[in-house]
Amino acid sequence: MAEVVGAYFTSHVPAIGGAIHRGDQQTPYWKPFFDGFLRVHEWLAEVKPDVAVVFNNDHGLNFFLDCLPTFAVGAAHEYHNADEGWGLPLYKSFAGHPALSWHIIEQLVGDEFDPATCQKMKVDHALSIPFELAWPDVDAWPVKIVPVAINTVQHPLPSAKRCLALGRSIHRALASWQGDERIVVIGTGGLSHQLDGARAGFMNPEYDRFCLDNLASDPDALTHHSIHDIVRLSGTQGVEVLNWIAARGALGPTAREVHRNYHIPISNTAAATLLLDPV
Ligand code: DHB
Ligand code: FE
Repeated sequence: MAEVVGAYFTSHVPAIGGAIHRGDQQTPYWKPFFDGFLRVHEWLAEVKPDVAVVFNNDHGLNFFLDCLPTFAVGAAHEYHNADEGWGLPLYKSFAGHPALSWHIIEQLVGDEFDPATCQKMKVDHALSIPFELAWPDVDAWPVKIVPVAINTVQHPLPSAKRCLALGRSIHRALASWQGDERIVVIGTGGLSHQLDGARAGFMNPEYDRFCLDNLASDPDALTHHSIHDIVRLSGTQGVEVLNWIAARGALGPTAREVHRNYHIPISNTAAATLLLDPV
């Protein structure tokens, strides 16, 4: 039977791609952030995943404001990075796992979620940056992917409660999958940041700590805030924490924190990295 071996969460700031490209990992600005990945590399070598279900948000690449699904599941054989730039070189492509994608979609629709099903899907820095951080310098990615895109961009956004329930539905799909894959769930984006408007540059370590402290043991605590509360607490782009909440649901009922790193700022973002084991 398939096994959910753990969850990996990280911010996905595009400037990280530029830093990797330039080899800036040991410079004073970047070192406190990149050092947080040494444990991630060890952990991945321990848990040895071969599939990743990646909860992320599209930044205007597949879906723009004129056509924006609340939830979209990739079911492609292959995904190409088509990021808008920001110093990020174009990456190797990502192999899909369409059979698992459709199994997840069947479960979601059976549980009365109504995702868009995408047999073509591009990926952007929300997926490629976490992969570059997790598996630097590999010739080919060691995992196949199922990307799940959550609308964190245009209101109305799905509630944190709905995103946790979506993740839990996906956990049920993973638990009933008959393959023998080792599955890691990944949540990307956040934590607090706001890129535009009067509060541009806003970050909130107190709310971020609340999220990090509760994600393993009491993820429902993160669902007590409304979307408008979350925007107020974490910033207009900090709502990407919805990806983390959904990924936590997909990990399973109980979890234990293995590692965290939190560093302000990376670009405009309070950058966080977290590893959880299922227990
Ligand atoms: C930044 C953060 C993001 O999550 C993103 O998608 C783009 C930019 C930033 O802090 O620069
Ligand atoms: Fe983002």
